Amino acid sequence: MTRPWLPWARSAARPGPAPAGQPPAGPARPLLEVRDLTVHHGQLRALTEVSLTVHPGEVYAIIGANGAGKSTLLRTLAGLHAPTSGTVVFDGADVTGLRPDRRVAAGIAMVPEGRRLFGSLTVEENLLVGAAYARPGPWSPERVYELFGWMRERRGQRAALLSGGEQQAVAIGRALVANPRLLLLDELSLGLAPAVVRRIYGMLPDLLAAGLTVLLVEQDVSQALRVATHVHCLLEGRTTLRGAPGELTAAAIEDAYFGLARANGQGTRGGPR
Ligand SMILES: Nc1ncnc2c1ncn2[C@@H]1O[C@H](COP(=O)(O)OP(=O)(O)OP(=O)(O)O)[C@@H](O)[C@H]1O
Ligand SMILES: [Mg+2]
Repeated sequence: MTRPWLPWARSAARPGPAPAGQPPAGPARPLLEVRDLTVHHGQLRALTEVSLTVHPGEVYAIIGANGAGKSTLLRTLAGLHAPTSGTVVFDGADVTGLRPDRRVAAGIAMVPEGRRLFGSLTVEENLLVGAAYARPGPWSPERVYELFGWMRERRGQRAALLSGGEQQAVAIGRALVANPRLLLLDELSLGLAPAVVRRIYGMLPDLLAAGLTVLLVEQDVSQALRVATHVHCLLEGRTTLRGAPGELTAAAIEDAYFGLARANGQGTRGGPR
């Protein structure tokens, strides 16, 4: 499988050799560490002891069928759900109890499932909403217009009048103007035509080059495998598989995704990442 732009993904987890006279660099500190996260919606347990580690520069993809708990995981990381147990550590600090706005200020921004734009506001007003708790940094509406060329001349248009793909781009822009370090993307491809999905995902190399780390949810496994440095499969709220795309066979992914009991030893089940 070709992953044409994977070389763009920087992995600080695998640093090069240390300069002469200096001790070898250890693995970079993870940007995000999720430990044993259990989350309930009322009586329903949506996530059970999910753990993962995301290093700077990675594109970490969560895959899984409907109801697997993917959005619950992202929303919990964004501070929109309180976990029943477990911890979320961001850049070395425990953020488990932090309010959503504080997480944005710390550098976590989310593009929610279904975009959730303010339809009666203009494109630019939607972007400015995202800047409300922004960290200082390079992203501004102007920079978003550079990323998505068509957007500048339509910045005065109401968001409700945009196509699905255009709305997705605005939702991404709204997250970017918060100047996040970690971008959470929930189902970018939902409801979009394949060509539009390709265009939307086409902006990922620019985001990585700008220093972002990406944790994305994707139901389309092929799409996830094309872009990810690491894949993590959830099934009914539990981790069933994780590993680098190149390490995983299609059969192992299928088993993990659908919950088929076929022991084939591929990937890492219950390992540290
Ligand atoms: N606000 C809520 N209240 C009650 N149950 C919820 C809520 N949100 C999600 N759930 C339930 O939690 C489980 C996980 O849902 P979640 O939306 O996280 O899954 P998902 O993997 O994102 O699914 P999809 O691919 O359909 O988006 C499902 O059983 C769902 O019905
Ligand atoms: Mg979802």
